[in-house]
Amino acid sequence: MARDLPRYGVTDRSRKAPMTERFPMADEQGTGGVDLRAYAFTMAGLRPIPVAVTTVHGGRTNGLISLSGGPGGIIPEAPRATVSITKYNFSHDLILHGGVFAMHVLGNAPELIDASLDIIRTLGGRTGRDVDKMSALHTKSGVTGSPILLDALTYVEVRVTGSLDNEENTIFVGDVVAAEKLHSGGRLDIGEAWTKLGKDWTDAYDRNHEPQIEHSRRMRGLA
Ligand SMILES: Cc1cc2nc3c(=O)[nH]c(=O)nc-3n(C[C@H](O)[C@H](O)[C@H](O)COP(=O)(O)O)c2cc1C
Repeated sequence: MARDLPRYGVTDRSRKAPMTERFPMADEQGTGGVDLRAYAFTMAGLRPIPVAVTTVHGGRTNGLISLSGGPGGIIPEAPRATVSITKYNFSHDLILHGGVFAMHVLGNAPELIDASLDIIRTLGGRTGRDVDKMSALHTKSGVTGSPILLDALTYVEVRVTGSLDNEENTIFVGDVVAAEKLHSGGRLDIGEAWTKLGKDWTDAYDRNHEPQIEHSRRMRGLA
């Protein structure tokens, strides 16, 4: 089984590299003989915008970074949003039990970019299980009680209406109950983010990510 395939938009980190460099294990087959090169090519770049997801349960706030955010319905006047959260992550249990989250898109304008990278480093690089990650960021409380990141470009707040348990993660869907655009400028995509976060941070992220993948394999009965 391939153990070193890219994950969470890692393909975008080196967009200009040839496929063979981007997917060094691409000749390998996955479970059931799946062609992992074709898999990676199909998925590459489908979700280019990282979101900062924050939540609250029982007075405890937390947040993480995700590349799985998106719309969750088609009714224009009754919007829904969706996000997929790995069970290993602390935020998973808070969203599961609290039933609310806020989903922020980050900005790439010169006056926002440093704060955006700060948010990714703070929320996406380590777990908040034993540390209050939110206290390092500028926030206000939203209508759901979720922390709103004041340095984000824009956000929606969501009350969960349904969730799908997929052994390794849960896909949450919910009603958008609030939305606000906080700043002007463009959206930060994952290619620009990986480049600006720098190799040291992304290497450390990859190392820290390993136990998460091992946990997911166990939850799926693959390890
Ligand atoms: C670009 C990027 C994308 C990520 N996508 C997801 C995702 O879709 N789902 C998820 O559960 N974690 C995702 N993560 C990992 C979490 O953000 C990370 O494990 C975080 O430290 C978890 O924090 P927590 O334990 O405090 O919830 C992503 C991280 C980065 C940097």
